Amino acid sequence: MHEPIVEIPGTAWTGRQPDDQLTQTLERGGVLYFPNLAFTLQDAELPLLRPELRDAKSRNISQPARGVVKGAVGTPDELAALNGMMQRFRHQAVQMVNDMFPRYSAHLRLEPTSYRPTEVETRVQSWRADDKRLHVDSFPSRPNRGERILRVFSNINPHQQPRVWRVGEPFEAMAQQFLPDVAPYRPWLAGWLRRLRITKSLRSEYDHIMLQLHDQMKRDTTYQKEAEQSVVAFAAGSTWVCFSDQTLHAVHSGQFMMEQTFFMPPQHQYRPEQSPLGILTRLKGHQLKGARL
Ligand code: SIN
Ligand code: FE
Repeated sequence: MHEPIVEIPGTAWTGRQPDDQLTQTLERGGVLYFPNLAFTLQDAELPLLRPELRDAKSRNISQPARGVVKGAVGTPDELAALNGMMQRFRHQAVQMVNDMFPRYSAHLRLEPTSYRPTEVETRVQSWRADDKRLHVDSFPSRPNRGERILRVFSNINPHQQPRVWRVGEPFEAMAQQFLPDVAPYRPWLAGWLRRLRITKSLRSEYDHIMLQLHDQMKRDTTYQKEAEQSVVAFAAGSTWVCFSDQTLHAVHSGQFMMEQTFFMPPQHQYRPEQSPLGILTRLKGHQLKGARL
């Protein structure tokens, strides 16, 4: 069985109690689901609920932790409203995470906020970029050497349409299946990728393995159909949180979502050995080159 989807009551982003149990649910790959925690749009933001706002050349609309929004096309007024909406979402996500997971709060690094206005079902993407296939998050151009990827998602669909995900088996079971097919890590190749600026820093052995697992899983149509998985519908007006480098996930349908990413070195977890870096280090039987642990 995969880790549970744990439902958490309440409508407020602020004033949540610290919760060690829930933090450890996250660390086992679980998903925390807040069915009534809505990110509410202001009237001036309602016109932003249209897919054409995303620049067709960009994967998503995103806003760096410091700076203005990228990947959007709109009037100056719309872009100003969009910046405000994304900042407000970031602020609320930060507050909720800091309150609930105080053990992490000093160690979390704020990464971009994204707004995803595109309808999932009709979007056409290459198999590698296609989040409709089960995967763990791993960024080809941004090596993270084993840092955790913690994400907060809110479904802001105005027509009560849920965002439907498939959630897969535990990370370790997937890794045991695919690790034998992972090509060996080649430091010289990582060096070339860096010099050619294909990666923003040196791709570590950890990043190499994670990307290969990501690709092998997505490419394997039998695995996609037959691996253990369950379907979860995140209601309009809800929020959910997981370590997306660990929880196997695929989006099935939906439109209009906010997302906030945090990075964190795994040594600040309760159980670093449960992180993808901890699991892969144990399964490989050696320290991974360039890892942060
Ligand atoms: C993801 O795969 O990280 C995003 C899933 C979604 O778009 O709901
Ligand atoms: Fe993903």
